Order: sequence, then structure tokens, then C-alpha cells
Amino acid sequence: MHSPSGYDLMSRINHWLIAIAILGMLALGLFLEFGGLAREDKRWLIDIHKSVGVLVLIYGVWRVLWRIIQGFPESDESTMPQWQEIASKIAHWALLAGILIMPISGVVASIFNGRSIAVFNWFSIPAQTEIAWLSGAAGYTHKYTGFTLALIVALHIAAALKHHFVDRDSVLIRMVQGAAK
Ligand code: HEM
Ligand code: HEM
Repeated sequence: MHSPSGYDLMSRINHWLIAIAILGMLALGLFLEFGGLAREDKRWLIDIHKSVGVLVLIYGVWRVLWRIIQGFPESDESTMPQWQEIASKIAHWALLAGILIMPISGVVASIFNGRSIAVFNWFSIPAQTEIAWLSGAAGYTHKYTGFTLALIVALHIAAALKHHFVDRDSVLIRMVQGAAK
């Protein structure tokens, strides 16, 4: 399969836009869960969380498809131990899955709990007939995938920083500037 030798402009825009969105959504979600706000005080924050989440889903489908169609670029670092190559492949697929699983589970949990989702004042996703087990399972998925994703993202960022500042290789540079040649 064709593998580009670096990250093209579209891949970099996609990576950084979704990275910012996911970091913000994880932070907001965890704040909602652990911030100790009363239900009525956090209602408006939940509305923002849901609206942004639906937009992440729409853009995320494009972002993930683009990566699948393009394939991953070859690694520049032939000196990298094989376990790191494998770990990074697993992490990248997990991150791509998280980009879709998080908003899909959020939407399913909400609408099958009989709540419609108003995406800002723009459009809305209608409520469905309540299906308690489906909404419950999706809520559970949202929560535990969210915790797991936060952990993988933390490792991912630590790995990127280690490549740049300790190994001093081109891994981060490729995602900022494109092919590092
Ligand atoms: C990028 C997408 C998203 C990420 C990363 C994300 C992340 C999180 C996290 C980490 C939590 C805290 C754990 C929990 O209580 O379940 C949370 C809570 C929640 N999320 Fe999301 N979420 C996303 C999208 C959505 C969407 C699209 C919806 C619904 C339309 C949604 C609805 C909720 C709700 C209702 C809560 C519980 C808030 C509370 O009652 O405290 N999320 N989210
Ligand atoms: C400050 C935050 C971040 C930094 C510095 C960063 C850095 C990087 C770097 C350097 C690569 C290239 C790795 C390689 O070529 O082997 C990469 C790839 C990747 N990153 Fe991040 N990242 C960040 C946040 C995120 C977040 C929050 C996500 C989750 C959605 C994410 C998802 C991915 C994915 C899926 C790839 C694989 C290539 C692609 O499809 O874009 N990154 N990241």
C-alpha cells in the first residue's frame, strides 16, 4: 500500500485541530465528572460539551478516513527499537478509535436517554424512544473509554516530547513541518 514519506498539510491540520479539540473535551469532561459542580450549575457546560462533541464527530469522521485512505507514513527512525514501532502503531490506532468512540457513545447515551441534542443554536439531533440498557451501556463506554483515552493521550504526548528533547530525532518535526528533509 502507498505510504507517504511524511505528513502532508491536510494530515497536519487534521492532527492538530482534533488534538486541541480532544484535549479540551477530555479536560471539560473530567472537570464535569470530578469538579464537584452541582447539576444545575454545570448544565450550560454540559451543553457546550455536547455541542462541541457533535462537531468533533463530524470532523473526526473525515480526519480518521483521511488517515486510513492515506496510510501511515514510513517511520524515519530506522534506529527505533521494534517494540516502540509496535507500541506507537497500537497507540495511533487507539487514538483514532477514541476520536470516534467518544462522541458516538456520548450521542447514543443522550438520545436513547430520551434527550435531544441542540448543537449550539444551529441544528439538533432528535431524542429517540428510551432504551435504558443502550443508553446505560453507551454512558459506561463514554466514561471508561474517556479515562483510557486520557491515559493514552498522556503517553502519546510524553513519547512525542521524548523523541524531540531526548532522542532529538525528526518525529515531532514531521508533524509540525511535514517531511523533515
Ligand atoms: C470528543 C468527544 C468527547 C470526549 C473526549 C468526551 C469526554 C468526556 C469525559 C472524559 C467525560 C467524563 C466521564 C463521564 O462522566 O462519562 C464526559 C462526560 C460526559 N459527556 Fe462527553 N466527551 C465527548 C463527547 C460527548 C458528546 C458528543 C456528548 C453528547 C452529545 C457527551 C456527553 C457527555 C455527558 C452527558 C457527560 C456526563 C457529564 C456529567 O453529567 O457530569 N460527550 N465526556
Ligand atoms: C500536545 C499534544 C500532541 C503532540 C505533541 C502530538 C504529537 C504527535 C506526533 C509527533 C505524531 C507523529 C508520530 C509518528 O510519526 O510516529 C503524532 C501522531 C498522531 N497523533 Fe498526536 N500529538 C498530540 C496530541 C494528540 C491527541 C490529543 C490525539 C488524539 C486524538 C493525537 C492523535 C494522533 C494520531 C492518531 C497520530 C497518528 C498519525 C495521524 O493520524 O495523525 N495526538 N502526534
